[in-house]
Amino acid sequence: MVRDPRYDILFEPVKIGPVTAPNRFYQVPHCTGMGHLRPQMLAEMRRVKAEGGWGVVCTEYCSIHPTSDDLTTVSATLWNDDDIRAHRVMTDKVHEYGSLAGAELWYGGVRSANNFTRLPPMDVASMPNAEGHPYQTRAMDCADIRELRHWHRKAAIRARDAGFDIVYVYATHGYLLANFLDPRANTRRDEYGGSLENRVRLIRELIEDTKEAVGDRCAVAVRFKADETIGEDGKPEWGERREMFEMLAELPDLWDINVADYTLEMGMSRFVKEGALEPYMNWVKSVTSKPVVSVGRFTSPDTMVSQVKRGIVDLIGAARPSIADPFLPRKIDEGRLEDIRECIGCNICYSGDALGVPIRCTQNPAMGEEWRRGWHPERAPAKGSDATVLIVGAGPAGLEAARTLGLRGYNVMLAEGTRTLGGRVTREAGLPGMSEYIRVRDYREQQLLKMPNVEVFLDSPLSAEDVFETGADHVAIATGADWRRDRFDGKTYVPIAPEGVRVFTPDDIMDGNLPEGPVVVFDGDNYYMASVIAERLVGAGLAVTYVTEEDSVSAWAGHTSERWRIRSRLMDLGVQIVTAHALTQFDGESALLECEYSGTEARLPARDVVLVTQRAPRDRLYHEILARAGDEGLPFTLERIGDAEAPAIVAAAVHAGHRYATGLDAALDRDEPFPHDRPIIGDIAPSTARHAKVA
Ligand SMILES: Cc1cc2nc3c(=O)[nH]c(=O)nc-3n(C[C@H](O)[C@H](O)[C@H](O)COP(=O)(O)O)c2cc1C
Ligand code: SF4
Repeated sequence: MVRDPRYDILFEPVKIGPVTAPNRFYQVPHCTGMGHLRPQMLAEMRRVKAEGGWGVVCTEYCSIHPTSDDLTTVSATLWNDDDIRAHRVMTDKVHEYGSLAGAELWYGGVRSANNFTRLPPMDVASMPNAEGHPYQTRAMDCADIRELRHWHRKAAIRARDAGFDIVYVYATHGYLLANFLDPRANTRRDEYGGSLENRVRLIRELIEDTKEAVGDRCAVAVRFKADETIGEDGKPEWGERREMFEMLAELPDLWDINVADYTLEMGMSRFVKEGALEPYMNWVKSVTSKPVVSVGRFTSPDTMVSQVKRGIVDLIGAARPSIADPFLPRKIDEGRLEDIRECIGCNICYSGDALGVPIRCTQNPAMGEEWRRGWHPERAPAKGSDATVLIVGAGPAGLEAARTLGLRGYNVMLAEGTRTLGGRVTREAGLPGMSEYIRVRDYREQQLLKMPNVEVFLDSPLSAEDVFETGADHVAIATGADWRRDRFDGKTYVPIAPEGVRVFTPDDIMDGNLPEGPVVVFDGDNYYMASVIAERLVGAGLAVTYVTEEDSVSAWAGHTSERWRIRSRLMDLGVQIVTAHALTQFDGESALLECEYSGTEARLPARDVVLVTQRAPRDRLYHEILARAGDEGLPFTLERIGDAEAPAIVAAAVHAGHRYATGLDAALDRDEPFPHDRPIIGDIAPSTARHAKVA
């Protein structure tokens, strides 16, 4: 297949100071939960991006000094020369494909509590930690600013020596440099505060320092927000930003532009659609002659072309689209648009950072697994036998298992009990704002269409007997899970209503069986589902009260950076919110709530309740098959995968499907299931600490 000439413009090289990007595909800095802790996993992940055609591949935020430490969220580091070796592994791999490597130098200030290094963080003033830690920053004096410039310069030189082609001055996202620019945070009375020129001084100095230190070999980029403060969606408040930008416009070699509201910049598809930053930053290119990159969860090549042709950007920035599909540029280049695995905007990738574990992705199960499991987003090892595999259930796990087994060359039968593929994602995609989740199904369905070795049977609920009759050598049960009609009280599942009193679950709502209301939606799941159900019910004209045992709405969604938007959406919709209360009983007229702290009980009048609590694996078929095993066992291997094994998020189901498929016929070392990326004793540098002599 050949590239559609409409997209040629995306493959033009772009000169960035002393270096040239081979095309316009630019993987902006994004962290991975690996950083300095897991350099081999990280390097291999970035390598795959370069292999997939990204012309620029950047690091995550990269700390320049131990007074800027974000653990348990793992950053990269350039604290001393030992870090150079780790980064070199990545840059060498990125260069293999002719791509450029970028390093985002970072100083956290008010956003880093330094819980690991235990050093006082520094910022423009003494301010409370922005992440809620009970620490304050030390106000930087002029000597501190000189030190910071020194560290930044040293880090830039180390970045250059590690092979990076682009070095960032990172002046946004509420970190130190952003606070120097900010008229509210910067209340200094010295030459770094007060007037606009003074507030811009440190950024100007750092750009000049970096150019002077490495500018002959490396481009200097600045990450900078185009608007001043978080306003109403679609209504930017630019404040002084344009004036500020004009003062710096020609200094760096590249502008990487974002916005004040991170929940817009890294917006969930439920709330923010592709290209949402444009109204905020469409003026930038008119002020600078330097190349501009920006983001917007770009997955459509037509949108990308339009952005370039209309002079909005020169380079298409992407974090999540490059995570969901590291081969997105190559697929456009090769005219394979139907193979693009589009990001669904769920931000599960971000949860890895928040949880301090390696990155994961709902759409791309290979993300973060490239090194330790040897997974690749586009390839899979050839089949290990001529066996036939039956997969029962075509939800996220079953579809991914069928796709990967098909890719490996196995003969696969995929049996789905209903008339549609997709299982839970098809159902959930029908809920308000969730339409992009259907991409989990659509990508896989599209791939299966191209695989003559995969037969798909719809409307085919199988009994245990049917399964035996297929004669398959391997059987995977991927039948999903059902939402429960009871709640887990911490030890056991308990009913909340007497017999005869109806209790709704999300499955009922997705089936179109709606309560009459007023209705209580009880959230024992604490992710997105209860809020989406509440929104659905408000849309049907019902009065809704949302109740959770947690202190906040959709508590787990804090990890995906969507909690704030969820709560404000519910408030906008007029949903009543009750936190820190369990729903313990419902009698058809009122719900009994119990305070999590005092045990105090209160009655809430309600005609109906929807329990969004836990899910029960749909594993009856699995057990029925097992029950038929004779003395010699079953004539096939049998496994449960995805929600049928252990209900979890969609990303876990897709991962389970992929794990099953890549593991089939593979020799597994029971004692060493996968390589573990961590320092091996012997490689560790001796401590440089000087211990006081004991007299
Ligand atoms: C998993 C993840 C980690 C991120 N880490 C960083 C980071 O370390 N530094 C940074 O400047 N931005 C970071 N971002 C923000 C992205 O660079 C980008 O601005 C944002 O995701 C919007 O782009 P997208 O729509 O292409 O994902 C991160 C985003 C994601 C999804
Ligand atoms: S985890 Fe979700 S948001 Fe992140 S890249 Fe994958 S599909 Fe996109």
